[in-house]
Amino acid sequence: MTANELRQKYLDFFKEKGHAIIPSAPLVPENDPTVLFTTAGMHPLVPFLMGEKHPLGTRLANAQKCVRTGDIDDVGDNRHNTFFEMLGNWSLGDYFKKEAIEWSFEFITGEKWLGFDPRRLYVTVFEGDDDAPLDQESINIWKEQFKKAGIEAEVAGADKKVSENHRIIPLGKDDNWWGPAGETGPCGPDTEMFYDVSPEKGQLGDTFESLVNNFRLLEFWNDVFMEYNKKADGTFEKLIQQNVDTGMGLERVAVIMSGKDNIFDTEVFQPLIRKIEEISGKSYHDEENKSAMRIVADHIKAATFMIADGVVPTNVERGYILRRLIRRAIRQGKILGIENNFAAKIAEVVISEYKETYPELERESGKIAEELNQEEVRFRETLEKGLKKIKEIIAESRSAEKISGEKAFYLFSTFGFPLELTKEIANEHGIAVDEENFHEEFKKHQELSRTVSAGMFRGGLADAGDKAAHLHTATHLLLAALRKVLGEHVQQKGSNITGERLRLDFSHDKKMTAEEIAEVEKLVNEAIEKNIPVKCAEMTLEDAQKSGAIGVFGDKYGEKVKVYSIYDFSSEICGGPHAPATGELGKFKITKEEASSAGVRRIKAVLE
Ligand code: SER
Repeated sequence: MTANELRQKYLDFFKEKGHAIIPSAPLVPENDPTVLFTTAGMHPLVPFLMGEKHPLGTRLANAQKCVRTGDIDDVGDNRHNTFFEMLGNWSLGDYFKKEAIEWSFEFITGEKWLGFDPRRLYVTVFEGDDDAPLDQESINIWKEQFKKAGIEAEVAGADKKVSENHRIIPLGKDDNWWGPAGETGPCGPDTEMFYDVSPEKGQLGDTFESLVNNFRLLEFWNDVFMEYNKKADGTFEKLIQQNVDTGMGLERVAVIMSGKDNIFDTEVFQPLIRKIEEISGKSYHDEENKSAMRIVADHIKAATFMIADGVVPTNVERGYILRRLIRRAIRQGKILGIENNFAAKIAEVVISEYKETYPELERESGKIAEELNQEEVRFRETLEKGLKKIKEIIAESRSAEKISGEKAFYLFSTFGFPLELTKEIANEHGIAVDEENFHEEFKKHQELSRTVSAGMFRGGLADAGDKAAHLHTATHLLLAALRKVLGEHVQQKGSNITGERLRLDFSHDKKMTAEEIAEVEKLVNEAIEKNIPVKCAEMTLEDAQKSGAIGVFGDKYGEKVKVYSIYDFSSEICGGPHAPATGELGKFKITKEEASSAGVRRIKAVLE
């Protein structure tokens, strides 16, 4: 069975069980700023899992393209990859544990479907804690399923030893609780399905953990029973409707079906690998080429899908992840001896393999080739020199045992080496990089370059800095609007910005009326709609004052200051950073107006 056939079988099966087949959502989440990429099939369905009605009913299924960026640096071994497809079926307050588990078992073992051997199937369930009890119901349903196949399935003991008889393993929240995808949202206990991929090795008889770590048991499907909503304060509340969210890793099942021990050796990746062999003239069967070829295949595949969904290489957020993937692939290509642009040629293979399932790939094929080529040209211009430079830096940093943040930043700003690439090359030479110091360097330069905070380098959640710049610009618009509506006596008394909201304290001695608040919101939103560029000029403090800029005028006359102006709407002395133009801000909304201290009011506001 090919991967395309597998995908189709899954959808056919759930169609027979009354599910509507919905298309894959884009890789870039449409209304969720808490994550950069769609990481699971349930992700685009969150509003419906929370109770909103889905137009196609209460039973849905699909194949969803996903990207997980947490393990980028581990790609190259035999288990990690960034882009993958998740096959999923959902119940929105319709069926629950019984049907979900029965159907999982039927699809896995049915002759007409996967036809896997039930004797090689092992499952985990939630063992219970203070938030939710042991999932006895799932245990009972699994026992029944196995019984139908003539297998007596028992629950593993406290030692978590797995055997032919003890094939139901209870585990804690780290393993058997799913979600939420962001910080808040729907979540619940789950039951995960594992397959014994090497029965020829004989009896299991080991702990569950070691069997997974030794690649003996491979997880391939997860049924989540979403009964809870995690709130911002960290507590759980029962959801109004009980949902099922299942996710099966298409690539994982392809591994099982192929009898190979990793996904790069299956037909999901082999056409790409063959193309890389052709371009490089090297063989994948030579151990020394394997890792580089796997990285190139994985990264260019992910990049192709990202560009098709509108991401372009930049230094922030999603664009930064994309840039990191492409540049890492180019360097690995170089290790394979590829000196000319090749990414677009690999992308062609990705497109032809996937275009039937994901037609956007063919539709955007011109753009995919163009973006990959441009990025490759840009990076190749400095790659050679950068590689030479990093060798020198490594040599001169030996005694300090690490590359300083300043030097890593120099490699980033002058040669376009993402921090992670510098780290990777440094690691290969047994030397570290002072990341903390890099982030400090980065922050120092950010005001000048108007880029965002170093948050993007940490854990992939890049948008924090961008959001802060947006809120900062919104604070300027707010202050200007307040002066227009309430009068020129309004002066800034304090400001504070978090990733979520802005807070502005200002001089005014009365509570604002509802009309005044509405008028201020209207003025700010009008300025946003006009998409006015935010301009920055350097001048002396005296000149700033003369120009009519507002701000805190200290006593250091003669000092140069920066004045940020938003056409004739606002002009303020300020250090930045700001959004490049107001149009990026989104909708401005005042969430609170209250007294702060005598004669000072406080406003909290958000951008939606
Ligand atoms: N959301 C679950 C997962 O990602 C099941 O779809 O594993």
